[in-house]
Amino acid sequence: MTIVPKDVIFLSESTESCADRWVAMNVFARTSVGLSSEVFELLGRIANDPEAGGEGPFHCWRIEYFSNEAGLLADPSRFRRNVDEWEELCLTRAELIAELKTHCILVDDETAYRKRFKPKRNLLDREHFGNFHQQHGQHMALARRKDPTDWWMRQKFTEDQLSVRPDTLYGAIQSKFLEAYTETRISEGMTVVDLGCGTGVYSNMMARRGANVLGIDPSEEYLNVARANAVPGTRFENMKIGEVGALDKIPASSADMIFMSDALLFYFVPFYPGQNADIHTLLKDIRRILKPGGLFVSMEPHGVFYLMPWLGAVDRPFVVVTEYLNKSFGIVPPLSWLIQQVTRTGFAVTDMREIVPGDYFEKIDPRGYHFASEFPLWHLIEFRPFSS
Ligand SMILES: C[S@@+](CC[C@H](N)C(=O)[O-])C[C@H]1O[C@@H](n2cnc3c(N)ncnc32)[C@H](O)[C@@H]1O
Repeated sequence: MTIVPKDVIFLSESTESCADRWVAMNVFARTSVGLSSEVFELLGRIANDPEAGGEGPFHCWRIEYFSNEAGLLADPSRFRRNVDEWEELCLTRAELIAELKTHCILVDDETAYRKRFKPKRNLLDREHFGNFHQQHGQHMALARRKDPTDWWMRQKFTEDQLSVRPDTLYGAIQSKFLEAYTETRISEGMTVVDLGCGTGVYSNMMARRGANVLGIDPSEEYLNVARANAVPGTRFENMKIGEVGALDKIPASSADMIFMSDALLFYFVPFYPGQNADIHTLLKDIRRILKPGGLFVSMEPHGVFYLMPWLGAVDRPFVVVTEYLNKSFGIVPPLSWLIQQVTRTGFAVTDMREIVPGDYFEKIDPRGYHFASEFPLWHLIEFRPFSS
């Protein structure tokens, strides 16, 4: 039987100039179709009356796209906001039903539909939804044929790769916060290890505040950029973080601070299958390297709100959270997992911040600003070692 799965919500997107516009969104599959009320009405009756609504023609709109192509912190809602950009379709009944099935607004077999929420088997697998990493990798490789490293750098950093783009939520939240945070936490001569430093922008930020920073990353491509842009006080080395013995070169009790941003998540949900990196090995290394009384700082995408769709009016956002403890789409661990793994290695949580964008961002992206001001997209947790 053809039904509208209970995973579908309907949102009004009518405007003064465009009446009768609805979005049907499958919040689990993250798929959408634009509808007129005649289609909305048909959907309400289809389970009881397979002929409901007649033969058409029916108006609906193609609105779905992979919105995170614009950036990992871009609007993740995956439908075109501007109704003027909606692609209008005038369809027969059979064509309409097929279109709605393509976007999971209608399904024939609910059991088969639910089985689709599994990891992708390979790059060509379109049957299974997979998690965000897999969806993003598939989109970049097949639809865009873009080099992921180059894409990651462009969506986060300025053209010269020296700083974080201020026109993104990375700039408005992460970088802006760290500018102020490092001023209070970094003092002249401190020793800092930036684990998963990537292109070293935050290592440089900390070195400018007087720290001696060792930036470590397993990616030679990122490290080449980091070395090219290194400021005095930094040093960058390739080490396979999370593998046994990988950080042995770093002496015990040698760092005042260990800093990780957007890197710890990969130790909970591997970036690619079969990854060797292990969270326990990593945390034991962190504990060993840190001086007694030192600080382990972890700044990560928020375990609840990161990559959740931005719904509602621009200045009155809401969110539909479809998973938290058992993630099939999400790539960030629940807060308790993250904290427990670290505290079980001999640390105590001493502070936690949920970070919101700077006010300047309201003019750049009002929707992103209001959403992220209500639902934080990053948190920072401070851990200090304790001796048992
Ligand atoms: C999202 S980037 C963040 C880079 C940098 N900390 C920043 O905030 O700009 C994640 C970094 O972690 C590194 N990394 C470390 N361990 C990793 C792992 N097990 N899986 C994937 N990436 C890992 C990657 O090479 C990459 O440079």
